[in-house]
Amino acid sequence: MMRTRPLKVALLGCGVVGSEVARIMTTHADDLTARIGAPVELAGVAVRRPSKVREGIDPALITTDATALLKRGDIDIAIEVIGGIEPARTLITTAFEHGISVVSANKALLAQDGAALHAAAEQHGLDLYYEAAVAGAIPLVRPMRESLAGDKINRVMGIVNGTTNFILDKMDSTGAGYQEALDEATALGYAEADPTADVEGYDAAAKAAILAGIAFHTRVRLDDVYREGMTEVSATDFASAKRMGCTIKLLAILERAADGESVTARVHPAMIPLTHPLASVREAYNAVFVEAEAAGRLMFYGPGAGGSPTASAVLGDLVAVCRNKLAAATGPGESAYTQLPVSPMGDVVTRYHISLDVADKPGVLAQVATTFAEHGVSIDTVRQQGRPDGVGNEASLVVVTHRAPDAALSGTVEALRKLDTVRGVASIMRVEGE
Ligand code: NDP
Ligand code: HSE
Repeated sequence: MMRTRPLKVALLGCGVVGSEVARIMTTHADDLTARIGAPVELAGVAVRRPSKVREGIDPALITTDATALLKRGDIDIAIEVIGGIEPARTLITTAFEHGISVVSANKALLAQDGAALHAAAEQHGLDLYYEAAVAGAIPLVRPMRESLAGDKINRVMGIVNGTTNFILDKMDSTGAGYQEALDEATALGYAEADPTADVEGYDAAAKAAILAGIAFHTRVRLDDVYREGMTEVSATDFASAKRMGCTIKLLAILERAADGESVTARVHPAMIPLTHPLASVREAYNAVFVEAEAAGRLMFYGPGAGGSPTASAVLGDLVAVCRNKLAAATGPGESAYTQLPVSPMGDVVTRYHISLDVADKPGVLAQVATTFAEHGVSIDTVRQQGRPDGVGNEASLVVVTHRAPDAALSGTVEALRKLDTVRGVASIMRVEGE
């Protein structure tokens, strides 16, 4: 039976994502009503700059006092698309204290304070949904949380940041410069308010923390995730990758240890073979592989950033939360019962591609090979060539290792730096996806 009293929504933030949420709520109002079983009404919109022109939004709905909007007594659901830690955290807490369920796209906040926010939602018998916080439009949080709830996820690997994928793709395919590509991604609405979060890997690390928590039913915070950004990736790295039949992507990789007693979570640039499906993920698209014991390998792919794709995920959550409200129920909360520890990066087993500038004289190769052997690292391939810039008496030595613990690999690099015959370490890149 259709309920006639509308469910009232407070939209907190009306920028790239919020403006699209408002647009779809208005243009698809009849469909949303039919799917939910009750009308859903945009009852207030909190922003920072009230005088800004906002197409399609009744100016009477605009307020700068988000707290008052939540406290006025008629709001059922709050959509938080402000971003950042404060005031978003206090507003979400206020919403729960006033019986309001929350939909959020805020990965930074969820990665930092997800446990406390989940606890507050549970304490008040309310929902906290955040599909849009990870991988834009791609349904990933709910499939992992609900569809795979009966399986055991062992590994998740993917591209979870649209901005950096856009930049790396442009650098690789058109030779565009880093800043030029970042400016374009920002203009398209992909980047965070402070794009440092994207390019230094914080945004991907936040998403990795959220996904690892869901995948392994444990608590993983932003600080638990090993993080390297992509600002150091150069045209030379792309040239090296091409010679190996690879490209470079910023990857998030979450793994359960073989003994099942711990997990690892990391974000860093890596070379992947051009034949790997992640190599063909272009522009701001994201793609995530989930490996589960019974299901096998699943791949989720789609637009990873931008107003309209992200609004799709927010609206999906809105419908789910509205349905829960009407059924006087809540969706699944946090599941952290395994309490698995997060191991340090040094324990991760991976491969390195190392490019060295060395003295071009007899015995150097043997010295370098001995250094690898002393650290227990086995070499897969070695390629030596004269320096492309023609520097006399120097050669470029490119070593690709077999899989070894990251601590052994980084120890090897430190020892190589100390050799008299090694003039410099031109680049180090992990190799994944083989
Ligand atoms: P924007 O910067 O475009 O929008 C932020 C909005 O919040 C603006 O409307 C701003 O008001 C409002 N705001 C800022 N401070 C306050 C405050 N103190 N009180 C009330 N309103 C405030 O961000 P996005 O829309 O890009 O991102 C929003 C969230 O969605 C972030 O958590 C982001 O990480 C996440 N997200 C973004 C994606 C994207 O592709 N952009 C994709 C997935 C998630 P005003 O308009 O007046 O400035
Ligand atoms: N800045 C983020 C990205 C937005 O580029 O992926 C989507 O979460």
